[in-house]
Amino acid sequence: MTTAKYLNKEIVILRKEIKYVNKTAKYTLHPELKIGEIDPRIYGSFVEHLGRCVYGGIYEPEHESADENGFRGDVLELIKELDVPIVRYPGGNFVSGFNWEDSVGPKENRPRRLELAWRTIETNQFGMNEFMVWCDKVKTLPMFAINLGTRGIDAARNILEYCNHPEGTYWSELRKSHGVKEPHKIKTWCLGNEMDGPWQLGHKTADEYGRIAQETAKVMRQVDKDLELVACGSSNSRMPTFPSWEATVLDHAYEEVDFISLHNYYGNPKNKTENYLAQSVDMDLFIKTVISTCDYIKAKKRSKKTLNLSFDEWNVWFHSGEADKKIAPWSIAPPQLEDIYTFEDALVVGLLLITLLKHSDRIKMACLAQLVNVIAPIMTKTGGGCWKQTIFYPYMHTSRFGRGTALNLNINSPVYHDDDFDAVPYVDGVATVDSENDSITIFAVNRNLEDEIILEGDARDYEDYSVLEHITFTSDDLKARNTLDNPDNVTPRANGNATLTDGRLSATLPKASWNVIRLEKA
Ligand code: AHR
Repeated sequence: MTTAKYLNKEIVILRKEIKYVNKTAKYTLHPELKIGEIDPRIYGSFVEHLGRCVYGGIYEPEHESADENGFRGDVLELIKELDVPIVRYPGGNFVSGFNWEDSVGPKENRPRRLELAWRTIETNQFGMNEFMVWCDKVKTLPMFAINLGTRGIDAARNILEYCNHPEGTYWSELRKSHGVKEPHKIKTWCLGNEMDGPWQLGHKTADEYGRIAQETAKVMRQVDKDLELVACGSSNSRMPTFPSWEATVLDHAYEEVDFISLHNYYGNPKNKTENYLAQSVDMDLFIKTVISTCDYIKAKKRSKKTLNLSFDEWNVWFHSGEADKKIAPWSIAPPQLEDIYTFEDALVVGLLLITLLKHSDRIKMACLAQLVNVIAPIMTKTGGGCWKQTIFYPYMHTSRFGRGTALNLNINSPVYHDDDFDAVPYVDGVATVDSENDSITIFAVNRNLEDEIILEGDARDYEDYSVLEHITFTSDDLKARNTLDNPDNVTPRANGNATLTDGRLSATLPKASWNVIRLEKA
């Protein structure tokens, strides 16, 4: 054996030993470790005219639970459990070929169209006005995307006049004639979708998109000055044009927009769980790079404005690829992108949520893509029941309990090494303090697949709090899934052992676990 090989072997053995030595992660819970105010909209989601997200998902007039609008009642109830504050619509890639006028007015007059992005037929039986009624039922806000692929400024100003202008003009009166008296007052608009992607209808170079985004934003603000506008960032961090795309687009449109978007999906196609669990480190780097790029353009322009980030597509997405290849083109609402999630996917989603929270000073909107059936926390059977996927739970916990202010925990955790990532902490976590409800929540994941880890914290500033519950989400089978027939195969339980005594907040984090430690003022 050569010396180098021998040394390498030694290092591997040493690393393995270290893995079993230190089973404690230390942290500090202190109000001065504030990251930022959490905009609840970081718990947003996404409904696209894709697969069975709309038809057979949120909308199925023939379903036994459907209301007078055709909205599935059983799905609505599950969405309410998630407490989703904003929903992006109608795409996605779909929006780059969308004629919004097709989706309003009497349903019998709405055209069927070839939907080129996903190679289906769009019936337009659910459209913009139906979406707004649905938002009302779900108690969520709309984030509307406009078509900057096959269309442009003219369609953008018209849709805005239709939606937001009170009355007395062609488009606002048309809306009224469609039975919608009051304007929708949609505030948040995405200026296209993934325009850097060659797959996108009407794909553009960064300069072409930067200019059209700038001019569209200008015109839209002339129609309605109270808008929030999101420019398209890169489709993912592996795009060859990332991050120069962001720099060029913002060079044109920095002053005209309020947000830059980020999209990224994660997966475990090589079935290497430790590597998979480390991918939130990649998300963190992606976010930091976009922030630096925004701030570089801010400096270059001597601007007073700080741009915020909208991570408006994120999730795990890799299970459904093979099944999708078998779907015949030009069918209506086929079962596309129907990933059935495993327990380990839920851990990754938890880690991604923790990462979003750790950037809550700059990420003010984010959308779990998507909401129902299509890479989604909620699944349905068309004409049948519905169930919660594994990823439903970390999303629900953070959305319901992760409000207020985010605090860094400065966790000092043992680490592991991986081909792609160096020194990945076994434990990652963040705290949120909700002063309105006098409650604190710690979200933490133990990435160690073999051993529990003791999380031991200095919480002397919160001695007047006590542990309300410690929820753990664990499974002996990392690949366990929930299905229609076995919907509660893997579910979280309030069985953790967190205690707060003499200013020390300690808890055992079971191996491979998602943890939610909830405190309330005693
Ligand atoms: O969410 C599925 C697709 O992923 C969206 O349509 C597109 O924007 C992204 O590439």
